[in-house]
Amino acid sequence: MAEHSTRDILVTSALPYANGSLHLGHLLEMVQTDIWVRFQKSRGHRCHYVCADDAHGTAIMLTAEKLGITPEEQIKRVQEEHERDTAGFLIGFDNYYSTHSPENRAWSEEIYRRLRANGHIATRAITQAFDPEKELFLADRFIKGTCPKCKTADQYGDNCEACGATYTPAELIDPVSALSGATPIEKESEHYFFTLPAFADMLKTWTGSGTLQPQIANKLREWLDAGLQEWDISRDAPYFGFEIPDAPGKYFYVWLDAPIGYMASFQNYCERAGIDFDSYWQKDSQAELYHFIGKDIINFHGLFWPAMLHSAELRTPTAIYAHGFLTVNGTKMSKSRGTFIKASTYLAHLDAEYLRYYFAAKLAASVDDIDLNLEDFVQRVNADVVGKVVNIASRCAGFLNKGFDNTLTADCAEATLVQDFIDAGDGIAALYEGREFNKAIREIVALADRANQYIDEKKPWVLAKQAGSEAEVHAVCSVGINLFRVLMTYLKPVLPAMAEKAEAFLNTSLDWTALSAPLTGHQLEKFQPLITRIDPKQIEAMLEASREEAPATANAAGKTAASGKPDSGKAKAGPEQAAADTIAFEDFARVDLRVAEIIAADHVEGADKLLRLTLSLGEEQRQVFAGIKAAYAPEDLVGRLTVMVANLAPRKMRFGLSEGMVLAAGPGGEEIFLLTPDSGASPGMQVK
Ligand code: MSP
Ligand code: ZN
Repeated sequence: MAEHSTRDILVTSALPYANGSLHLGHLLEMVQTDIWVRFQKSRGHRCHYVCADDAHGTAIMLTAEKLGITPEEQIKRVQEEHERDTAGFLIGFDNYYSTHSPENRAWSEEIYRRLRANGHIATRAITQAFDPEKELFLADRFIKGTCPKCKTADQYGDNCEACGATYTPAELIDPVSALSGATPIEKESEHYFFTLPAFADMLKTWTGSGTLQPQIANKLREWLDAGLQEWDISRDAPYFGFEIPDAPGKYFYVWLDAPIGYMASFQNYCERAGIDFDSYWQKDSQAELYHFIGKDIINFHGLFWPAMLHSAELRTPTAIYAHGFLTVNGTKMSKSRGTFIKASTYLAHLDAEYLRYYFAAKLAASVDDIDLNLEDFVQRVNADVVGKVVNIASRCAGFLNKGFDNTLTADCAEATLVQDFIDAGDGIAALYEGREFNKAIREIVALADRANQYIDEKKPWVLAKQAGSEAEVHAVCSVGINLFRVLMTYLKPVLPAMAEKAEAFLNTSLDWTALSAPLTGHQLEKFQPLITRIDPKQIEAMLEASREEAPATANAAGKTAASGKPDSGKAKAGPEQAAADTIAFEDFARVDLRVAEIIAADHVEGADKLLRLTLSLGEEQRQVFAGIKAAYAPEDLVGRLTVMVANLAPRKMRFGLSEGMVLAAGPGGEEIFLLTPDSGASPGMQVK
């Protein structure tokens, strides 16, 4: 075995927002990290794995408000849930903490003071949209209005879901606050900035020095070449976070203190475990530091964070390991298809280790997306884990139990074969180290095939029926168990619970560093089933349960104010944003479409695109502002029938209340075509 000294390694997974449940995408990252950490530990290194909930930001504050609880209560509830789910997936954190902690406050203040002392904090006033009703500055995401390009109503402040256009909230037609419906006003306030451009050279060197995967390094290089901008690190009260020292009413933007949360969680752990925290974080630290993250948050980890650490005279990460996104059955996780699968929903139906194995079998060092194909998942886990690996033990254990008192032979009959398996360990270790888990699994499964072939050739079940072949049966089955032992040692980082059961059966610990010779003359315990096959019915039940959960969570986890995404500056392509490609009938049925008669149509003073329509639904009348001025003269509309959405939440606009929406087609401007029902329809009729 290669000679190497014991390394000191600190590893993190990105801190999930304390604003919603974990889903299988989060678990992809945590499983990847956990396998790597367990591997390092199995090789005898001092490896520590910390994580935490990312507890700050406007979204969390608003969720708490909606639920009528304090943000502290909200983040406590979510943290409990996250810890339960991650334990269920056997994620072996050494510490799971929260960014809303005294350690994090202290470090955030300390780092900020160092940045300021080094001249890397600037202040200047900026003008921003402000909700006069909620008395809150509005991030782009909290502003809605009509798309300036395609005129689709009810679009978010930064991009249109209908036509894909991107724009600034100022360009929206009739913008409103998504929080209150009030028309935002422009308001000025003083903001604090981190002078990122001062680190352009440092970052060029750092990002080019092997700290990043090639694809990521290229991406960051493009951003660096395009020029960096100062990073706005302050938010005005009300905000759930840490107040900035010497700046009353100003809070650290959530992304400022989030990565510092890695340090805080580790410090909290060090105090308990008696580890020297400083030796991991001081500038000249010899310890290794790795952040596992998704590709959507690379700018924070590959630019802002190393620059901050550098300015604060702390060490920078050894490497950032980014992964791609999880898709299910080839597409973004979808609520209506039931493939937006929460961690807890999965665990209610399936064993965590199935998914750990499947992820391992697919994960590589690249940032390619990973697909969970549910059919392939069942097939692969059943074939490889149950059909190949466990099969080796189960076909040998019976004979050893029946005829040989669960004892292995005093000599190994196939010392060379067993040694081959042991010798494969360094190659497999190198693949684990390089995060090429899929290749490691391929090698391990190839070895399992060899083990099964060996047993197939020797046919102990035939030998067992021949008088005088007892010794051979004993020898063959003892070899089989030895091969199984080696394979389970290699699989232990992926399948820790199954490995534990195997250890009980083998009556030995599966210790990679101690793998040198076959077990001989060794007493086994009675064989217990290690894992059962996946029944496709379990998958069906899980999808069904996910579908059922969808309506309950659709609003909370959708694209509304409570989406759990603090304004990162960049829209994140996460499953929370994934628009369902299809909707259930019930979803459609929730839209109350009615035939409406336009009984009045008027120009609106000060609005260049809108007409005020007075609509009759038979019994009642509604006022609706429609962006159809360029296409229709008011007098041509009066008396016409059209179709309206009658149960749209009323919106307060600058000109008055809009109580619904009329339906029209076309790209916009002069090309807008109102819908008209066939003759015979009357006002108030439901469209279904
Ligand atoms: N709170 C920030 C991270 C702060 S780290 C200092 C955040 N949270 S998150 O909950 O949105 O995402 C947490 C991690 O899960 C991120 O690394 C993100 O990329 C990852 N994933 C979220 N959805 C994912 C998939 N569908 N697939 C794979 N990983 C995904 O970002
Ligand atoms: Zn549009």
